[in-house]
Amino acid sequence: MKSLSVKIWRGADEGHFDRFSVPVRENQTVLDLVTEIQRQQDPTLSYRFACRVGVCGSCAMMVNGRARWTCRTHVRSLGVGTDEGIGEGDSDEITLEPLRNMPRIKDLTTDMSRFIDQWGEAGAGFTSARDRNDDPARVDPNSKKRKAANAAIECINCGVCHASCDVVAWNDEYLGPAALNRAWSLVNDERHEARDETLEAALGPGGCSNCHSHGNCMTACPIGLSPTRSIAGLKKMSLMAMIGIK
Ligand code: SF4
Ligand code: SF4
Ligand code: FES
Repeated sequence: MKSLSVKIWRGADEGHFDRFSVPVRENQTVLDLVTEIQRQQDPTLSYRFACRVGVCGSCAMMVNGRARWTCRTHVRSLGVGTDEGIGEGDSDEITLEPLRNMPRIKDLTTDMSRFIDQWGEAGAGFTSARDRNDDPARVDPNSKKRKAANAAIECINCGVCHASCDVVAWNDEYLGPAALNRAWSLVNDERHEARDETLEAALGPGGCSNCHSHGNCMTACPIGLSPTRSIAGLKKMSLMAMIGIK
């Protein structure tokens, strides 16, 4: 049976790669590889997953240098493990590392607390004047603002865009694509009471003006969201606010 060589980061910020050999199987995902290694070769290997079907986003890792959901990444799509070598490469080796731009806890797991805190710093917490006893707000689903909010709202905090952003990599202050994408959704959400405060936070020192619009976040997002477009929207909205147009 043909085998793949899988190089996996071990340790925290300091560490090394261990190499494992895993048999090639039909319809094998990268998450399947990691699970097989952990169950059959090294039970001390740490990694995260939950749904295994592309819903939770917790299985995100760097796969051959690119941030991906490993449960939705088939080994064949990487161009390894097949005689044809289809896809991006033509080798029998896969390299797995924890998501970039986050502190490493152990092996393939990262500390996402700063990433989550940045959502708060971007004003990305929903506030409503209504409570459970009030009628739901009436929102026109076809309004321009609601459509803009909806286009960004499906984010599940997986961190793939954050790990793919070069500005996040070198600028500690930058809040990053996911937090700003959420801010964009909220400044367009008529039900959100603190829209002005969210816009102000998203325009702050770590905010949208740091984005270079090079689009890596948009290319990487596994569900096709475009933080790049959301951030461009925030920049435009700030300009309009400056000249008194809301
Ligand atoms: S478009 Fe902006 S947020 Fe997205 S990867 Fe580029 S710099 Fe980062
Ligand atoms: S915008 Fe996409 S890539 Fe970024 S955290 Fe949300 S779901 Fe993940
Ligand atoms: S395990 Fe939930 S998206 Fe991969």
